[in-house]
Amino acid sequence: SVWEVLIITTPGDQAAFENLLGDGKRWGLEVSYAVQPSPDGLAQALIIAEEFLDGSPSVLILGDNLFFGTGFMKTLADSKGDGAGATVFGYEVENPTAYGVVGFDDQKRVVSIEEKPENPASKYAVTGLYFYDERASEFAKQVKPSERGELEITALNEIYLNNGNLRVELLGDGTTWLDTGTHKNLFEAAEFVKIINSRKGVRICCPEVESYRQGWITSEQLLALSQPLIKSGYGDYLKYVALNE
Ligand code: G1P
Repeated sequence: SVWEVLIITTPGDQAAFENLLGDGKRWGLEVSYAVQPSPDGLAQALIIAEEFLDGSPSVLILGDNLFFGTGFMKTLADSKGDGAGATVFGYEVENPTAYGVVGFDDQKRVVSIEEKPENPASKYAVTGLYFYDERASEFAKQVKPSERGELEITALNEIYLNNGNLRVELLGDGTTWLDTGTHKNLFEAAEFVKIINSRKGVRICCPEVESYRQGWITSEQLLALSQPLIKSGYGDYLKYVALNE
């Protein structure tokens, strides 16, 4: 079955995203669009998406998060089959206060999840990638705005935690998680991508290549996608993958 993706943007940005990504068919996906009229928090995504989800489980990913690493696809595939509840990913960071943070008891069980805590319970930030069962929209409607006036994704995750239904997978050194939500972070992420690219000749997070590797498009289709981009190094890379992988 085809993966269905809903892209939620500000009203002003929607046209640009539609122009860039289209209906997703060329990547073997079904992409549709919705707007969040004002920045009222991430948990609102599950409310906006309620009709789209139509009672299905879902994965939410923030547009400013970047994941890269060995075994990461397997981690995702494993989490997909987890059944009832929610799965979030913890990643050790220098500055946990900028994020949602999970706290553990001495048995390494999750006992707390807090948004941008002043005194973080651990160095494990919650990344912007969340697996939810079919109750997410219903729970999201129970979330009250936080002090900063947002429906916090952390509050939604806390509902799952209080129900005994929140799993936290720790991402180890094999995975790099970057977020690009500040100018500094964006610059650092660009540098990271550039270094991998120039050192190994490998391009990362290319939707065309990933859908080819997933078997959603054929090598012929990948080759065809490379053609209009061939004058840029990007098209060359797609062509290289189509002919060599
Ligand atoms: C948001 C979430 C936070 C999460 C982070 C990941 O933070 O609220 O829990 O750790 O994304 O990128 P925000 O982008 O609102 O600062």
